[in-house]
Amino acid sequence: MRSLVASAVVAATLFLASVLAPALAAEPKETVDLRNAVMWSIAAHLNQIKAAAPAGDAKTVAAHAAALKGLAPHIPTMFPEGTSLEVVENRAKPEIWADWDKFVEAAEVMETRAGELEQIAKDGAEAPALVAAFATLGKEGCGGCHKPFRAPKD
Ligand code: HEC
Repeated sequence: MRSLVASAVVAATLFLASVLAPALAAEPKETVDLRNAVMWSIAAHLNQIKAAAPAGDAKTVAAHAAALKGLAPHIPTMFPEGTSLEVVENRAKPEIWADWDKFVEAAEVMETRAGELEQIAKDGAEAPALVAAFATLGKEGCGGCHKPFRAPKD
């Protein structure tokens, strides 16, 4: 049942990603709305992991970690030039485009950390190891990009 729910979330997220590409040619505001919707679905995957890891539910953790690994490389595509907070209301700092390689690297860190979590979960890691790898994913994978590149909420 849980993995059914997980695959529904994965499917929904992939659908979002598939509608994203044509939208990038659209208004900056639409791009911002879509990328935030994808970010919220990314957060939903992370929340599922947060709940499943302490319970030692490695199967659920693996499914959502795989989804995050798959989504990470698409993050930079969601940030075309002309969509910074200087142009349209959102939290994307201009540093993203000034330090583009670093931004892409931050997405790669998320992909790597999610892949590591997926692997240990598939190998049957128990709760403490799952929780530790989840924390690393959150800190380095999400925080590693948000810290330099996402403006604080106003
Ligand atoms: C490569 C950079 C990058 C990575 C990796 C990344 N994010 Fe984001 N995220 C951003 C940026 C930039 C924004 C602001 C986008 C905007 O305002 O249009 C954002 C916005 C968000 C939002 C929308 C809420 C808000 O107020 O801005 C959520 C939720 C979120 N991210 C969650 C996550 C989670 C959870 C992870 C890790 C699993 C993650 N992000 C990984 C760059 C990233």
